[in-house]
Amino acid sequence: MMRIGIITASDKGARSEREDLSGPALKELVEEMAWEVVEYVILPDDQALLEKTMRRWVDELGLDLIFTTGGTGFSLRDVTPEATLAVADRFVPGIAEVMRQESLKVTPKAMLSRAVAVLRKQTLIINMPGSLKAVRECFAAISPALPHGLQILKGEASECGSPPKSN
Ligand code: MTE
Repeated sequence: MMRIGIITASDKGARSEREDLSGPALKELVEEMAWEVVEYVILPDDQALLEKTMRRWVDELGLDLIFTTGGTGFSLRDVTPEATLAVADRFVPGIAEVMRQESLKVTPKAMLSRAVAVLRKQTLIINMPGSLKAVRECFAAISPALPHGLQILKGEASECGSPPKSN
């Protein structure tokens, strides 16, 4: 069972001035994968706080996967990718590439998301844009490859292809 955390970055959400729909939607999608959401929090767009939360969820809780929603756009308050890059050990460009590639088929505004995906220790961290629609579209694009990636990360799988035939 994969243990998942969800961070929604939203100044208005954190002040309860706007209901966050992206986090609950992501929670449902994650649970459809038979994974468990063990942490969910709405934080203001504060880089230090976002970094601190990601570090704690990786270093102390050892979560397998952290999704963030929101804070990936052009507003000066949008700092989720910067916080994510600051805690990264390794980069996973393909995940964000596929999210943008697939999302561009739906809206040209997809190119405005600066979302990144990274690894810190044995945790995968993936940024998503903050709307309900974007979360659904991005999750559909990347979810087929996530179980295999997480198994490799946890050392539970080592072979990517089928086993070699004998003779
Ligand atoms: N990606 C998908 N799949 N669907 C969307 O509707 N919206 C875009 C983009 N990515 C969108 C999307 C818009 S309008 C913006 S401004 C950026 O994500 C950044 O969103 P964020 O600031 O909520 O992270």
